Amino acid sequence: MAKAASFTCNSCGASHSKWSGRCDACGAWNSITEDVPLSTGPGAKALGAKRGRHVALSDLAAHEAPPPRTASKMPEMDRVLGGGLVPGSAILVGGDPGIGKSTLLLQAAARFAEAGLSAVYISGEEATAQVRMRAARLGLADAPVRLGAETSLRDILTTLDAEKPDLVVIDSIQTIWSDTVESAPGSVSQVRAAAHELTSYAKRRGVSVILVGHVTKEGQIAGPRVVEHMVDTVLYFEGERGHQFRILRAVKNRFGPADEIGVFEMTGGGLAEVANPSALFLGDRGEPAPGSVVFAGIEGTRPVLCEIQALVAPTPHSQPRRSVVGWDGGRLAMILAVLESRCGVPFAGLDVYLNVAGGLRISEPAADLAVAAALLSAREDTSLPLDTVVFGEISLSGAVRAVAQTENRLKEARKLGFTGAILPEQSKLGSDGAMTVQKIPDLSELVGGIFGAG
Ligand code: TYD
Ligand code: MG
Repeated sequence: MAKAASFTCNSCGASHSKWSGRCDACGAWNSITEDVPLSTGPGAKALGAKRGRHVALSDLAAHEAPPPRTASKMPEMDRVLGGGLVPGSAILVGGDPGIGKSTLLLQAAARFAEAGLSAVYISGEEATAQVRMRAARLGLADAPVRLGAETSLRDILTTLDAEKPDLVVIDSIQTIWSDTVESAPGSVSQVRAAAHELTSYAKRRGVSVILVGHVTKEGQIAGPRVVEHMVDTVLYFEGERGHQFRILRAVKNRFGPADEIGVFEMTGGGLAEVANPSALFLGDRGEPAPGSVVFAGIEGTRPVLCEIQALVAPTPHSQPRRSVVGWDGGRLAMILAVLESRCGVPFAGLDVYLNVAGGLRISEPAADLAVAAALLSAREDTSLPLDTVVFGEISLSGAVRAVAQTENRLKEARKLGFTGAILPEQSKLGSDGAMTVQKIPDLSELVGGIFGAG
């Protein structure tokens, strides 16, 4: 067997035989680190020489009951987990420092403890007194959660083996170090080794383990991407520091749908759940305003309405600005190009700012039509009626394509008092006539028919 490469890119996972500052495979800088084998014992060296254990195989058709889940009294958390906590699952919760991960998980641990799980919260960042102070502030001083402040993986595993909890929160994986790995805590090899040990502990003992991970500036869980592959579920806790809204988003879930979101609000007494996010993201919209359009979106299994705001202004620069918050910059460039080349609406010489209100981040292509409407509305200085929602995907030809879950989007809009919708012509509509719908076959219909531009 050829000698394995001993350097790995932590961004794309490519193997290299020598270190370099930049990964040839993905172009990332400073992402290559030396591999440290998880096991350096004699067994690791001579894999072929020693026979392994015969693993018992079983039939695919076995009737296995669905995993018994424990629901907390925190419905937003349960929703993101796919209906509750599965025993033996390993979960990674990532987010920027200070966004509220420790607060969220202390609250979640308390709720799961109240639901009957024995919960242990291990903090590697704060002393137990600090965690207790936070618990008091959150009104959880009496919650049956056991606390520990420790960073040594060996001590943590020994403690857990003795205590036999149902749920363990490790805050954070970057502070945990294993004495079998010779590098500083927080380094890639340490994080990888600790995550590996803790996820195997979760599987071995049937204990749910929640790992907290800090996210780097580049938006990756600091340390290796490989932690994401090791765990069953990856949740991101996002939000803008200046906003009180926080979104817990499932980006991977072996036990439930991915892309599900839970919405929270950071208050003086901790995180409060937001049962009706649409009402929150729409905020207080008074008068019809140019550049403001309400998008009827779907986040996970739930419809969420939000406001898309655009500002278009003559640029003082030779290169006009394109600035986006909460949406994809590449997608904005595409919509601008389609408007320009298919509908004859130029944006040359104009700065364009696009913002999704409330700190929400949208990734659905169904937002295309709402973005186009916001851009046109800002450019033409004409506003859409306040009670209208917009959704639809735009193709490069300028055609407006139907999107999934039309009825759900309209139902949510009706619930919040909207009476009109601008949507793709091909949309499948129910018989309910409570909504005035304008069906758009292509973008030029929006440009000419609704904004009278072009
Ligand atoms: P924290 O949970 O420590 O964030 P993380 O673990 O992600 O680093 O929360 C940090 C912020 O949350 C801090 O700036 C204060 C704020 N906060 C509140 O607004 N209300 C509260 O009840 C608590 C506990 C924290
Ligand atoms: Mg913290």
